Amino acid sequence: MKNKLVQYVGQIIKDNQGHDLEHVYRVLDLAMTFAGAEKADKQIVELAVFLHDVDDYKFVGIEQARKLYHASSILDKLEIEANIKAKVLDIIANMGYSKYLEGIRPTSIEGMVVSDADMCDAIGATGILRAYEYGSSKGLPFFDKNIIPVPLKELSVAKYKKNLNHHTVQHFFDKLLLIPNLMQTKSGKAESRCRQKIMIDFLKHLFIEEKAENWLGYLEEFLRKHYAN
Ligand code: ADP
Ligand code: NI
Repeated sequence: MKNKLVQYVGQIIKDNQGHDLEHVYRVLDLAMTFAGAEKADKQIVELAVFLHDVDDYKFVGIEQARKLYHASSILDKLEIEANIKAKVLDIIANMGYSKYLEGIRPTSIEGMVVSDADMCDAIGATGILRAYEYGSSKGLPFFDKNIIPVPLKELSVAKYKKNLNHHTVQHFFDKLLLIPNLMQTKSGKAESRCRQKIMIDFLKHLFIEEKAENWLGYLEEFLRKHYAN
């Protein structure tokens, strides 16, 4: 069963914009650790991890993504029973950063575990590399100190989905630095805090090396605003 699952998923996500089987395996590793601590059902967690990116709106389009076409047909091919299929699809339909921006969050413990693990893989040392990889695949510079983020404004879903950032450091402020606040499990909170420190250190050093003092101030103000206590 697992071999077929890996094969079906691998056929769909073979691009290298931060979405490949390596990402899936890292998320699986984290999610299994979280599932143990949070007493979540590991079969459901594993299926949802493998299938969580096969209908990503960025690759299949917003309409197709809503239908979860790939995830649903893979579960059918694997002959997964109906109640498990429904739980897995419910998780995938309700996770992800743009869903969060629309006010949609996972509600089952399995969904929270998968979502927290997926978000943790976007931050920390791995997150910095993934952001760099994604940005360079779009031809974006990593950092342009002249393009200061718009003053602390709420990010609209439309803007996030259109991906209007001009350099990759912007993405840390649009999403990555906010992730610890979005954790729904104790395990996710602990892991995300460690990873957050790495990103903050990295950004501080980058701004010092680039002689971008105003960015240091911007970062501190941002963290005060979002992590006041
Ligand atoms: P995930 O699968 O973790 O939910 P996404 O589908 O949102 O992540 O994006 C894949 C990877 O690319 C993530 O590590 C994310 O942070 C990164 N990424 C997405 N959008 C951007 C962007 N505009 N600039 C830089 N990195 C990005
Ligand atoms: Ni993912």
